[in-house]
Amino acid sequence: MNRREALKVAGALALVSAVSAEAKMLEKDMNRMEMKPKDPKNMSKGELKHTPQITIKEKDAKGYTRVEITTGQGGIIHPSTQDHWIDFISLHADDTLVGKNTLEPEISRGATSFYVKLDNVKTLKATSGCNLHGIWSSTLTV
Ligand SMILES: [Fe+2]
Repeated sequence: MNRREALKVAGALALVSAVSAEAKMLEKDMNRMEMKPKDPKNMSKGELKHTPQITIKEKDAKGYTRVEITTGQGGIIHPSTQDHWIDFISLHADDTLVGKNTLEPEISRGATSFYVKLDNVKTLKATSGCNLHGIWSSTLTV
């Protein structure tokens, strides 16, 4: 390996190292603790703000039902700023993953929908991740 090739390899390694360090730092800054309301029948404002609301909407001609998920209940919508936002929402039908959407701060807020075949499905479980306040779930009996 000549000097020029060695410099190229060293530069590439430094870039990989920097990107990896940044990814680890970003991951470290995300709160990934599983959270639960202390009293599900009497949730605080902060708990309402993070608990996903599952709403079953219309069924299409192919038999898929639109399931809408909004992070926040009781009229409280979770904020979406550069420092504080819902970064993903996922949905399970019984034990099967339906989908997982990643969300960007500011340009979108903590809401999404999936088209789901609900035949024989007993429960839907939605999960939302807040970068600061952890991972929150709710379950709906179909
Ligand atoms: Fe939050």
